[in-house]
Amino acid sequence: MMNQNLFTTLILFNLVLATLVLAGRDFYRILDVSKSASLHEIKKAYRRLAKELHPDKNQDDPSASQKFQDLGAAYEVLSDEEKRKKYDRCGEDCLQRDGMMDGGMDPFASFFGDFGFHFGGNEQKHETPKGADLVMDIFVTLEDLYTGNFIEITRNKPVMKAAKGTRKCNCRQEMTTRNLGPGRFQMVQQTVCDECPNVKLVNEERILELEVEAGMVDGQETRFTAEGEPHLDGDPGDLVMKIKTQPHPVFERRGDDLYTNVTISLQDALTGFTMDITHLDNHRVSITRDKITWPGARIRKKGEGMPNYENNNLHGILYITFDVEFPKQELTEEDKEVIKKILNQSSNNKVYNGLRGY
Ligand SMILES: *[C@@H]1O[C@H](CO)[C@@H](O)[C@H](O)[C@H]1NC(C)=O
Ligand SMILES: *[C@@H]1O[C@H](CO)[C@@H](O)[C@H](O)[C@H]1NC(C)=O
Repeated sequence: MMNQNLFTTLILFNLVLATLVLAGRDFYRILDVSKSASLHEIKKAYRRLAKELHPDKNQDDPSASQKFQDLGAAYEVLSDEEKRKKYDRCGEDCLQRDGMMDGGMDPFASFFGDFGFHFGGNEQKHETPKGADLVMDIFVTLEDLYTGNFIEITRNKPVMKAAKGTRKCNCRQEMTTRNLGPGRFQMVQQTVCDECPNVKLVNEERILELEVEAGMVDGQETRFTAEGEPHLDGDPGDLVMKIKTQPHPVFERRGDDLYTNVTISLQDALTGFTMDITHLDNHRVSITRDKITWPGARIRKKGEGMPNYENNNLHGILYITFDVEFPKQELTEEDKEVIKKILNQSSNNKVYNGLRGY
């Protein structure tokens, strides 16, 4: 009896183990996203975790490298529609079997930029020559800066490939001594080079993905390590992408605040109104006024400005400035009398304002 029980338990245990192995890794859990996560959420999660789990930042964690590999694999699969579908159906094992996990994605690849930290690079700088950094302005919409987005940038860049033959490299000036006879010698400076395998520059297309984070401001930079100009005898420089805001037809940004202008009719200006403004993410901002609105009147909507970059839960203010459109049609004498009666503004009340404000 005891033996049989033990036997069944063992079988069960093996079954569980087998299922676990078959099922492979739980990529959703690794990325800490739900099964229904959008591509945007997956990218965001990946970028956040890659910063956090980078082995260089977790040097005392022996499993750091494995964790980072898992993260790379999870991203490789879940960011690809076809692979994700297959994974949802039958797990990592299935993808492995069909050769769809190429693992070709270097988890250290800089296609997302360098995640905002630099280490150890400084000491090397003096020894290894480096190609020039390239700075590129990237024009983004105010909508993208409001909600955050990922922008694909196709970069054509020359990369070094091995070529036939050799080339002179590591050239330097050295002193050599020449004997010119008894007691006479001459020191000459000459250029000495090593022979290196030849290389050629080949144009290669690469897709870089720039995360436009909510609340980013003009001039903010994302660095893509080694995506800059190549250097024959050293490392390529970096590519620096600089955020520039495209002008927006409706909103103007100043810091975290937004400004917009709205023109209302004289009738609405006098009698009050309710209206909606469509915001940058298409949500509606409702404005209701009972009081009289004069040209240039400005109202503030707290929390309807741009999200703050450091803390996306904080928002600036939306300022709405009103202009009033006057009717163009002629009024009858009777209408004029009625209006005069209603408004009852003294005709002697004209004040010369001068040029105040100009
Ligand atoms: C609102 O109107 C003012 C004055 O005409 C102008 O300077 C400003 O650029 C306008 N703002 C927007 C967002 O159109
Ligand atoms: C109109 O204004 C005058 C003073 O400006 C005031 O004495 C008068 O009562 C007002 N009439 C009405 C109907 O409000």
